[in-house]
Amino acid sequence: MNYENIYIEEENSIATITIDRPKKLNALNKDTIRELHTAFKELDEDATTKVIIITGSGEKAFVAGADISEFADFSMKEGGKLAAKGQELLFDMVENLGTPVIAAVNGFALGGGLELAMACHFRVASDNARMGLPEVTLGVIPGYGGTQRLPQLVGKGRAMEMIMTAGMLDAEKALASGLVNYVVPQEELLPLCKKLASKISNNSAVAIKQAIKAINAGYSYDKDGYAVEIDAFGSCFGTNDFKEGTAAFLEKRKANFPGS
Ligand code: COA
Repeated sequence: MNYENIYIEEENSIATITIDRPKKLNALNKDTIRELHTAFKELDEDATTKVIIITGSGEKAFVAGADISEFADFSMKEGGKLAAKGQELLFDMVENLGTPVIAAVNGFALGGGLELAMACHFRVASDNARMGLPEVTLGVIPGYGGTQRLPQLVGKGRAMEMIMTAGMLDAEKALASGLVNYVVPQEELLPLCKKLASKISNNSAVAIKQAIKAINAGYSYDKDGYAVEIDAFGSCFGTNDFKEGTAAFLEKRKANFPGS
């Protein structure tokens, strides 16, 4: 697949997707969202890809938001459709992807950019990163899941304040709020993400997929997270990864998971 707005590099079962519109601070236009959808789908279906890292090109921005030029003249109906389509194609898809996704937040993550980072399974930031949901300065609200995922990550009061003031958190504040897991200098950002990805890739991909499902169920209004966990736990016992993992432990050797 040829992409115009993103590129993908793969090394040691770790795929890095880079959003590549640096002149527009990697703002998410319709084409970029479609390309990201296809890329995530293909990488998720490729059994050799164990972890996906997503980042922005250049040193200034992860993603500075949805592309404002594309929706400035939208009607109410078109606005609703924009949010629904984006959530379906990208944000909900990434959150529920079976392959772990790490956001490498390398600069501004604003609006749809922070929403994309929050849809990822966890986030690592460079020390120049700045994060916020400035939509109310434009007369709209976050529409790619931001009103739901920000309170999950930082708590309701902090999310209310961030969304109402449209203020930005610097990397250290984002770390203290639980929005990101680590803050490192920019040159160490991808190496750290790859180190974490490598650790993840040594573990059972099948079990990790079930864990993502169970964790996400707890944040879903129509699911019982504990019941989903019981089901997911039980289904692990039918996998080759479970046979290998337990056998390797008992034989005092390193597991070599078949991924099935
Ligand atoms: N949508 C469309 N274009 C965007 C954009 C967005 N969300 N964010 C940045 N850009 C474009 C700018 O229009 C500019 O394009 P131009 O050179 O053709 O004029 C280019 O990216 C560089 O941005 P600029 O504003 O000149 O950089 P800056 O360093 O002065 O400011 C930001 C950086 C991030 C503070 C500023 O770009 C900004 O506030 N962006 C919008 C953030 C936002 O509201 N996001 C939520 C959208 S829902």
